[in-house]
Amino acid sequence: MNIKIRTENESDYAEVESLTREAFWDMYQPGCVEHLIAHKLRNSVSFIPELDFVAELNDNIVGNIMYSKSKVVASERLAHEVITFGPISVLPSFQKKGIGSALIEHTKSLAVKLGYKAIIIFGNPEYYHRFGFKSAESFGISASDGANFDAFMAMELYAGALQGITGKFCEDAVFDVDAAEVDAFEKNFPYREKHVTDTQLK
Ligand SMILES: CC(C)(COP(=O)(O)OP(=O)(O)OC[C@H]1O[C@@H](n2cnc3c(N)ncnc32)[C@H](O)[C@@H]1OP(=O)(O)O)[C@@H](O)C(=O)NCCC(=O)NCCS
Repeated sequence: MNIKIRTENESDYAEVESLTREAFWDMYQPGCVEHLIAHKLRNSVSFIPELDFVAELNDNIVGNIMYSKSKVVASERLAHEVITFGPISVLPSFQKKGIGSALIEHTKSLAVKLGYKAIIIFGNPEYYHRFGFKSAESFGISASDGANFDAFMAMELYAGALQGITGKFCEDAVFDVDAAEVDAFEKNFPYREKHVTDTQLK
């Protein structure tokens, strides 16, 4: 399989939002919100265009990863910049073939070169531990409400990058999605039935 990883262009936006919708549909809730997040994130000041990539197979886009700047807030006066990836999506029929891993490894190396400190994400630990993510709690970093849980993870991009950095994680406001806005955005896509599924319980 000859996967090509390249920068996302403006002409890819609609295709990437459709693939994001396909990948996330009914995965974590009935329907999904991640295609709207992708759509809004590109216009946010936190968006990192240098880390916005698509995976192509035979000239078709089969995967995408996007990053934004986020923060670990230590106090009212002190916040440390970190980065977050998401959405990350691979078309369902192309999953489990290494495409998601290739997108993560490619952008992780680039993020190191760009000098970022760390990547902090929410996701399935079974998948993300293989890339070097550890519980954020082990670094003294909690979610914005002060909570810690296995699905909240951090990875230093150089040794000791998170040393002395503790506090609450704060990501771009576009991740707080408004249900009415999703419903309105959905009108741009072919109708698809939403379902309650077992995976949503995990
Ligand atoms: C998550 C995702 C991007 C991974 O891409 P991928 O190309 O399928 O991943 P890879 O082929 O590189 O890796 C596959 C491995 O990861 C595991 N894996 C993939 N997604 C996983 C998940 N959500 N939870 C646990 N394990 C997962 C597979 O079981 C497989 O494990 P194995 O190597 O031990 O067999 C893709 O599955 C996807 O788009 N999922 C739907 C959207 C989503 O959940 N995005 C991430 C939100 S945090």
